[in-house]
Amino acid sequence: MAELVLSGLRKEFAGGVVALHDLDLTVGSGEFVSLLGPSGCGKTTALRIVAGFEHPSSGRVSVGGVDITGTPPNERDMGMVFQAYSLFPNLTARDNVGYGLRVRKQPARQRNQRAEELLDLVGLADAAGRYPHQLSGGMQQRVALARALAIEPKVLLLDEPLSALDAKVRLQLREEIRRIQQRLGITTIFVTHDQEEALSISDRIAVLYQGKIEQLGPPAEIYGAPATPFVAEFVGTMNRIEGVSDGSGGVLSDGGLLTLSSAVSHAAGRRLLVLVRPESVRLSAAQSVPVPGELVGEVASQVFLGAVTRVLTVVAGLEIRADVPSSVAATFPVGARVRVEVPREGTRVLDLDA
Ligand SMILES: Nc1ncnc2c1ncn2[C@@H]1O[C@H](COP(=O)(O)OP(=O)(O)O)[C@@H](O)[C@H]1O
Ligand SMILES: [Mg+2]
Repeated sequence: MAELVLSGLRKEFAGGVVALHDLDLTVGSGEFVSLLGPSGCGKTTALRIVAGFEHPSSGRVSVGGVDITGTPPNERDMGMVFQAYSLFPNLTARDNVGYGLRVRKQPARQRNQRAEELLDLVGLADAAGRYPHQLSGGMQQRVALARALAIEPKVLLLDEPLSALDAKVRLQLREEIRRIQQRLGITTIFVTHDQEEALSISDRIAVLYQGKIEQLGPPAEIYGAPATPFVAEFVGTMNRIEGVSDGSGGVLSDGGLLTLSSAVSHAAGRRLLVLVRPESVRLSAAQSVPVPGELVGEVASQVFLGAVTRVLTVVAGLEIRADVPSSVAATFPVGARVRVEVPREGTRVLDLDA
């Protein structure tokens, strides 16, 4: 177990592409941190620097308090799993898992025993003698995970290990990765572009955008209190309502006045972005006589999502999505006039002029 510290990591590639801008991240001993962000934001570059395959333009990496920035990859004590199944095709599952131990000159008997223990850990005890082409994609990734763990690494690095798998296997394997990681207490960085995956598996998530960490925090915080418009947009579904502060807790939007709370009052005239999740928005039947300060819109569409139905309302041209229990969705048919409430609870207001 060891703490992993990335400090001031910067990576500039030939041609002037800056893939990482002074990245700081501390992964606690035994902690599972996801790097979450869109394609091209620098996730793989960060991971490759930690693994030692890439050298940072500036900055340092340390494990357990020891600076390893100049240490070659094979001396770093790190296990890595990639998106593409990177098993040796001419070796059995057992020999793939034992490969790192062979390099470390461990005798065959010990090596095979250890490999079989690890295959057992990932649920593949029966497949030790099979070759990669005799294994499904999910099984191959299990072998890759076992291989990464065989050398008892201080740090486990996973670069989109699930993205080539089909949905059901992906779910199973992600739960298993988490279970094994917690059981071994191994310090882990998990790279993904899939927000749901990151939310479900991590102790903390670092949302990465254009080589910078936009927000770092536990999943509930990333989801419930996105710190920037990018995070709000990238993680989950979010209603975005732009408007101008009235100076007393209200926001003048295209759809009308949102009366939020004077507790979050911004100076009059500031441009604000109101962020509210569909599950926080409340719908009810509109009064025949409009009540001042209420938003009234029309239902434009419904999408059935299982337990809830997402209702798209249009309030004076402004789109606001609301999730309602599917059992009451029939109360809000397409074309119906509805009252749309944006409660203060669960609503975030970002100051765009800040
Ligand atoms: N070897 C390289 N040479 C030049 N540019 C690169 C190289 N590797 C990555 N990049 C660039 O760095 C940025 C980050 O890439 P990458 O770390 O692979 O992103 P991600 O894994 O988040 O998709 C991208 O703009 C990519 O094109
Ligand atoms: Mg990548």
